[in-house]
Amino acid sequence: MKNFNFQAGTKILFGKNKINELADEVLQHSNRVLITYGQGSVVKSGLLDTVKSKLAEKDIHFEELSGIQPNPRLASVKEGIKICREKNIGLILAVGGGSIIDASKAIAAGFAYDGDVWDFCTRKAVPSSPLPLGSILTLAATGSEMNGSAVITNQETQEKLPMGSDLLRPQFSILDPVYTFTVNKWQTAAGTADIMSHLFENYFTPDMGTDLQDGIAEAILKTCMKYGPIALEEPENYEARANLMWASSLALNGLTGTGKMTGDWSTHMIEHEVSAIYDLTHGVGLAILFPNWMKFVLNERNAFKFVRMGKNVFGIEDADPMVAANKTIDAIRKFFDKLGLPSTLSEVDIPETHFVEMGKKACQFGPIGYFQRLNETAITQILEMSK
Ligand code: NZQ
Ligand code: ZN
Repeated sequence: MKNFNFQAGTKILFGKNKINELADEVLQHSNRVLITYGQGSVVKSGLLDTVKSKLAEKDIHFEELSGIQPNPRLASVKEGIKICREKNIGLILAVGGGSIIDASKAIAAGFAYDGDVWDFCTRKAVPSSPLPLGSILTLAATGSEMNGSAVITNQETQEKLPMGSDLLRPQFSILDPVYTFTVNKWQTAAGTADIMSHLFENYFTPDMGTDLQDGIAEAILKTCMKYGPIALEEPENYEARANLMWASSLALNGLTGTGKMTGDWSTHMIEHEVSAIYDLTHGVGLAILFPNWMKFVLNERNAFKFVRMGKNVFGIEDADPMVAANKTIDAIRKFFDKLGLPSTLSEVDIPETHFVEMGKKACQFGPIGYFQRLNETAITQILEMSK
């Protein structure tokens, strides 16, 4: 296990009616707030009205930025920065899923930066002194509610790139599982696949001696496999939604990646290239790509890691490691099938046209992945396997 520092600074307020603590949390930072939200789910559910009334009760001034899209666009980020500067905002309050929280992080970072906020994604600048951010999570998936990452889409260049800093971790996040009761089947399944993919990214690394971290990942994977299907069948099952919501945060707050060099993250980078062009739901792209990435990188030297996951998560035993490893990958695919997720890009109307371009763009900063380095050709091959 490698040395590490671990500080997941976000205060989590978890459970029913935690919204009652919102105003006090906000006032620890500012009494001038920008509420950010998406395309209407929080209006429809009544959550936005509740948020506004909680702020109004304590005389907290608020402005609004609505209409943030899934795969959040740079244009929304720029609009948010403008509002924050013009209205002297002191805290951003993201109400929604990962896209809303991500856009809000970019707004928070861009507020304090004189250049183009896209510079954070192209690695020309790093965030410093961002505005504080709080979140009210409505979809269990990305872990953005407890980490310092954001992924932003630049429609002009058809790029979707991450930015990140520990400074961008939300100061607080309210996680009331009831807010996720209205998430539809598609997004529930995609969110579950996304949580599992974050665990895969940190599990399949070349590091040794990280039994604890890998054991935590296995426990969270089993939680997703137990509760994902229940949430699909019974959207208002509190325990299912609660377990998925906490799984979302723990899968990507740094916990399972501690003591390792870094996660692999190549499947995420490939998915980002796909969704940059085709605006695909992130977790759906991962469900299609991940089993193919696994098949592509599996070899006799690394099979033991698949064997371990197969045994501990899926109960797979086979004397031949390669057979056990392949059975594990098949079991993962089968579970995604059970969630009703597609297994090929053609099912979501994505043709081969841009596969080579996607491979090139994914490698714009060099080959990707640590479990196995992937160059443009390898990425194109994985996309071919996924068509
Ligand atoms: O826009 P609204 O109307 O709110 O609807 C959203 C959206 O259509 C809807 N939704 C959210 N909560 C709901 C709900 N519908 C009904 N009831 C609710 N309670 O769900 C749709 C998807 O929302 P979105 O925020 O896009 O989903 P998600 O949380 O999966 O976020 C995806 C984005 O996060 C990025 C992805 O690449 C993608 O852009 N990621 C961010 C990460 C991070 N910050 O650490 C890591 C991830 O790997 C990921 O890359
Ligand atoms: Zn993800």
